[in-house]
Amino acid sequence: MLTQVFETLESNVRSYSRSFPAVFRKAKGSLMYTDNGDAYIDFLMGAGALNYGHNNDFIKKQLLDYMTEDYIMQGLDLFTVAKSEFITTFNELLLKPRGLHYKFQFCGPTGTNAIEAALKLARNYTRRSNVISFMGGYHGLSQGSLALTSNEYNRKAAGVGLHNVTFLPFENNSGGFDSLAYFEMILEDGHSGIEKPAAVILETVQAEGGVNVASPQWLAKLKAICEKHGILFIADDIQIGCGRSGDFFSFERAGIVPDIVVLSKSLSGYGLPMSMLLFKPELDVWQPGEHNGTFRGYQLAFIGGKAALEFREQSGLEAAVKEKSAFINRFLHEEIATADERIRIRGLGMMWGIDLSGFEDTLLAKKIAQDCFKKQLIVECVGREDRVIKLLPPLTVEQDILEKALGIVHDTLRQHLGAQVSVQATLA
Ligand SMILES: Cc1ncc(COP(=O)(O)O)c(C=O)c1O
Repeated sequence: MLTQVFETLESNVRSYSRSFPAVFRKAKGSLMYTDNGDAYIDFLMGAGALNYGHNNDFIKKQLLDYMTEDYIMQGLDLFTVAKSEFITTFNELLLKPRGLHYKFQFCGPTGTNAIEAALKLARNYTRRSNVISFMGGYHGLSQGSLALTSNEYNRKAAGVGLHNVTFLPFENNSGGFDSLAYFEMILEDGHSGIEKPAAVILETVQAEGGVNVASPQWLAKLKAICEKHGILFIADDIQIGCGRSGDFFSFERAGIVPDIVVLSKSLSGYGLPMSMLLFKPELDVWQPGEHNGTFRGYQLAFIGGKAALEFREQSGLEAAVKEKSAFINRFLHEEIATADERIRIRGLGMMWGIDLSGFEDTLLAKKIAQDCFKKQLIVECVGREDRVIKLLPPLTVEQDILEKALGIVHDTLRQHLGAQVSVQATLA
């Protein structure tokens, strides 16, 4: 199928289709198929919305059964059986075993809408307007969330001033600058000129920012500072949550309990739009309807979300992710990082970055990603100037597909570096 219809009639705002200009028709598991039947390995995975793979059979069955019975599809925020079962399952399978006590708030269906809700809640609860965000953070592109997103390119499109946010450097991306010491200084010095914030918001692993992983120690220290000063800690788990970090919640590894958790993307299990806040019950200062929205009750997303949690339990997904993560980690360090000392590898669970910002060629990562696409592997570039290749396989990725994809990255990278291609025994 020709791409002309998109190129002539779809707005210039389209983005992913510029890097991956094929017309897709079908998808299953880790693969997407074009209209001509060509199979692509998808390591973009709906930018994190497809943790359980495309058209996961276990989840699909429950969705189809639900639709066959003509159960309610759109429910605003009415009480429904589907919503009740989702809340109960989430509470029983995830919150209770972790000793977490949260209230649920269903938001408009995109991640950015839940971020807007988190901002409003934090500001109304604390009666403060400033919020701390981190350089490299991505929290969405509506006006409030865009104010928290550091990328200059995105910010310029706002058309208005983006205020009430103070940015700090993130850990490991600050050239040795101790941003937590600076944060404490700001809070304790009456001459800092920076308003005491309502909240701190962060991704514990910055995804779009270049796969920057905060250490458990740094996260715990940040949380302790927040507690000491009565500042809310908001974990944006939209991309790194729902099992991608290895645990269901990305902050578990730091042993901290955020005041507010934001979830979306893979929450519905099937790529269906859904977003949600979890927050400590005492924060629930909302008045009825203060954060309303028509599509807060997409019942199929509740069904898919519940099925995804059951799938996770029944398939032993968490253990499988830890195994695959160890495989990727070892491969990237032993087979890719060894190609050149300027390559840096970062990641956790099933989100990995190959950082090529140490090379003079600012387009190197993009060229490699483009060549991977020619070999039918879809990988995105992220970070400053898009110089980090991000690998985002589904958590369910089959071992042979994982090895094939890593082999493509390996060979393409080595070709670009002019090094000898030596596919290792692991890929034989
Ligand atoms: C960490 C994070 N927060 C927020 C968002 C915004 O979500 P959405 O694109 O659904 O508005 C994204 C999207 O990529 C994200 O990765």
